[in-house]
Amino acid sequence: MNSEHEVQIRLLEELETALRARPDRPRVAALLHQVVEYANVHFLSEELLMRLHSYPGYDAHVGEHARLMEEIRGLEHHVESGHREASADLAAAVRDWIVTHIETEDGIFETWLEGATAVADGRPSGVSVQV
Ligand SMILES: [Fe+2]
Ligand SMILES: [Fe+2]
Repeated sequence: MNSEHEVQIRLLEELETALRARPDRPRVAALLHQVVEYANVHFLSEELLMRLHSYPGYDAHVGEHARLMEEIRGLEHHVESGHREASADLAAAVRDWIVTHIETEDGIFETWLEGATAVADGRPSGVSVQV
């Protein structure tokens, strides 16, 4: 999961940098496409993992993913409207929101999953998380 998070953050940083640099429409369009597709696939794979393990915090986490995707779609429209500076600021804001999501919701799920898989394997989990 962590390597996917790194890619997610890096793509948004590259998009922000491209938006602040000299206009290069094909590069911005390609990065934007990657940001949208990668976020979509990443969120779906996380949700699948949660369902597979009957994660009790599933609904709240999926709700947050839906709001993040809405923000990303908003960013997409903003970039397409041609407001480069405002779009760069929005890319940075979306990146910050995703970082917060990784540090909070994803972190809680990861800790819970470690405990759940330890119990399933008969190992002492030592982890008790309120979700
Ligand atoms: Fe994630
Ligand atoms: Fe997540």
